[in-house]
Amino acid sequence: MVSTGLAGRGVVVTGAASGIGRAAALKFAREGAKVLVADLSREGAEETVKEIETAGGVALAVVGDLSDQRVVDQVVERAVEAFGGLDVLVNNAGIMDRMSALGETDDAEWERVIRINLTAPFLLTRAALPHMLAAGRGSLVFTGSEAGLRGSAAGAAYTASKHGVIGLVKNLAVMYRKQGIRANLVAPGPTVTSIKVDADPEAHGPAVIGQLIGANIGRLGSAEEQADAIVFLASDAAAFVNGAVLPVDDGWSAV
Ligand SMILES: NC(=O)c1ccc[n+]([C@@H]2O[C@H](COP(=O)([O-])OP(=O)(O)OC[C@H]3O[C@@H](n4cnc5c(N)ncnc54)[C@H](O)[C@@H]3O)[C@@H](O)[C@H]2O)c1
Repeated sequence: MVSTGLAGRGVVVTGAASGIGRAAALKFAREGAKVLVADLSREGAEETVKEIETAGGVALAVVGDLSDQRVVDQVVERAVEAFGGLDVLVNNAGIMDRMSALGETDDAEWERVIRINLTAPFLLTRAALPHMLAAGRGSLVFTGSEAGLRGSAAGAAYTASKHGVIGLVKNLAVMYRKQGIRANLVAPGPTVTSIKVDADPEAHGPAVIGQLIGANIGRLGSAEEQADAIVFLASDAAAFVNGAVLPVDDGWSAV
């Protein structure tokens, strides 16, 4: 395989206190990248940083809610200041919905899920772009979901948010390819992490979708398997890959 070209690069991974984000942060660090861990959870973020430092890597944490513009600005400023630039941004932080059908989705569920899964990646990418444009290079990787490929993997809000993020990735790929910036997305199938669904099993969403989920999925994936795909897409090994949606799902999306 081509060298990843990640050694010495500045990388931001959101949601890196846990699950897929943490596994990606650790893998970037093993490739020699300097990693900013951005997450709501101080304890988890500090644990990821400690693990990277113990292995001889370079990392720092910014703790806060990424749907807040001030936190977003802080993430980008700290990365540029500490690493001398921002080469890779992984928009990975996300939350599940309550598996509600649209008619049962209240404003709070809709706004929370769209804000964190779709608006936060928009805000962070917008803040990172000037630095990538100035450098003439950059790699944006998003964590989507099987729910961005089909209508039978989650509730209305999560499904809409993950379809939305695919739109962002494709538009970024077209708009910025001449400036050396690539945007790609991994679409994980069910993966063992700390993500939680807080659904009422009697509600319309779970009652309908619950019968579909499970029917066609393969085995459960690990966070490391998702991280492998994220690091590949971010790296020079994927230099000609732009605007791609990569299912990492044991073939679920192929069924
Ligand atoms: N686990 C799965 O089966 C699965 C499947 C498809 C897609 N995904 C996607 O993978 C991504 C990572 O999820 P995971 O499964 O590793 O879950 P996880 O809960 O283990 O990790 C998500 C992290 O994001 C952080 N986070 C959530 N909201 C935040 C906010 N507003 N600001 C800052 N940090 C915030 C959490 O604190 C947590 O550390 C998500 O985008 C999720 O939608 C997961």
